[in-house]
Amino acid sequence: MNPLAVRLNRLELPNPVLAASGTFGYAREMTPFVDVSVLGGIIPKTVTPQPRPGNPPPRTVETSGGLLNSIGLDNDGFDQFMAEKLPYLLSLGAPVIVNIAARTTDEFRRMADVLNSQPDIAAVELNISCPNVSGGVDFGTSPERAAEVVAAVRAAGDLPVIAKLTPNVTSVVPVAQAVADAGCDAVSLVNTFQGMAVDWKQRRPVLGNRLGGLSGPAIKPLALRIVWEVAQEVDVPIIGIGGIQCLDDVMEFLVTGASAVQIGTASFYDPGVSARLVRELRDLVDQEGLRSIRDITGTLT
Ligand code: FUM
Repeated sequence: MNPLAVRLNRLELPNPVLAASGTFGYAREMTPFVDVSVLGGIIPKTVTPQPRPGNPPPRTVETSGGLLNSIGLDNDGFDQFMAEKLPYLLSLGAPVIVNIAARTTDEFRRMADVLNSQPDIAAVELNISCPNVSGGVDFGTSPERAAEVVAAVRAAGDLPVIAKLTPNVTSVVPVAQAVADAGCDAVSLVNTFQGMAVDWKQRRPVLGNRLGGLSGPAIKPLALRIVWEVAQEVDVPIIGIGGIQCLDDVMEFLVTGASAVQIGTASFYDPGVSARLVRELRDLVDQEGLRSIRDITGTLT
């Protein structure tokens, strides 16, 4: 038995360390620096039905302990992704979880139909939480609309469904409950926190789109709080995201209630971090004599 293997309802992964969407490109950029085959999963940049040029520059700015981005879901569109990016991703030896966003439930459903016809994809992650596009978080801030999208994608086939939720609500719990009831296999907690950087001398916001999404170590305590709240209230596997950069961070998310984690911003300044964390987790499991990493999840007292 593989002691690092995890199961999130219908989704089985060889280990709980995944590369987060938007921080790993389409993996081609990362393969010179990291053996991606050892990862628990790769989640490429969000794909939308049509190509999108993204937001005006500057699109990123470093802040204290964090990164503020307003990329605006820049991507070449779903058809191009399926034809040119997915075959390469599937050749890398790690589970591939395709991340999609759309403006309507019908658009989500149409992409899900196509993804369900591709047997090698591990799961689909629904980005209903991007703070940087008009309409980007509408689904994720409404329990009803979030549930509607999840139900539609679930109905498209057997592909496991993950809902990536926004922290930019009073409480994530009602949205997590709604998507769990609608049949999602797991929730990814959390996407970025809406924020702003200001150049006071110019009297201007730094980002071209004024507002952006904050990620990195600055948000780890906030993300842990949300993982904990959802783990207390909702019976759904959680994938923790938010400022994870070392093994202790991984373990903190697991004991707080996550079954797996995504490594995001850290990959920008340390591209090999996710593969290294898999190795370190394996060593820790050996040293501690753990039967399975699953036994760690939710053990916070
Ligand atoms: O702006 C972006 O492309 C970010 C996406 C996200 O945070 O989901």
